[in-house]
Amino acid sequence: DLQALHGLERGRLRIAGVTTTEYFIAQWLRRYTDHHPGIEIELAVDNRDAVVRRLQQDDTELAVMMMPPQAPPLQRVPLMRNPLVLIGPLGHPWAGARRVPRAALNGQPMLMREAGSGTRLATEAYLHTHGLTPTLRATLGSNEAIKHAVAAGLGLAVLSRHALADDPAHDGVAVLPVAGFPIERRWLLVWRSDRRLSLAARRFVEFVQDHPPGGDAAPTGDSRAG
Ligand code: PGA
Repeated sequence: DLQALHGLERGRLRIAGVTTTEYFIAQWLRRYTDHHPGIEIELAVDNRDAVVRRLQQDDTELAVMMMPPQAPPLQRVPLMRNPLVLIGPLGHPWAGARRVPRAALNGQPMLMREAGSGTRLATEAYLHTHGLTPTLRATLGSNEAIKHAVAAGLGLAVLSRHALADDPAHDGVAVLPVAGFPIERRWLLVWRSDRRLSLAARRFVEFVQDHPPGGDAAPTGDSRAG
């Protein structure tokens, strides 16, 4: 419509992303504001459980996460891949190996994100599926804290590849070639199917569908109730 053409819409976009999204979401927001300069953005960054609560309490209209809940009912658009890699300190002996068997993880010191983290949930599901029993050495409340603790030699951890520099050595860590890693996950853009989206939010959904982020998103034409 004419208003959209001239970028004259006013309003506020309320969106919440899990902590791993902070590494890329600014690039989308930047491009979205190029098209919709009149819309003010309010981005919340939280772990998975907190983002789910925001959806439940109508504290946000849109959310980006990799493990959406059963309730409330959600519409979803698949976004980029989110590979979860196993990392150790730079110079870790496994880093040079071609492949390390999963069972090598048994008894290894592991660092975990806090309860409520989707990264933690995916990691625990993986360990449980394969009957692996590393030793929990520390629980840390952010991806950055995990990264620095791994670099400092406190233990191994599973982290979104997007939370690391292109060359992980710049973060003082190495990606370890343990069988079964990376754990392949994907982010989704979700919103409540029992709510009517604001104009700002609808524009954001359209924008993401027209500009698939990362270049490796699945076809996004098929948003559907989940
Ligand atoms: P989180 O993010 O660990 O901060 O909850 C996980 C995700 O990528 O969904």
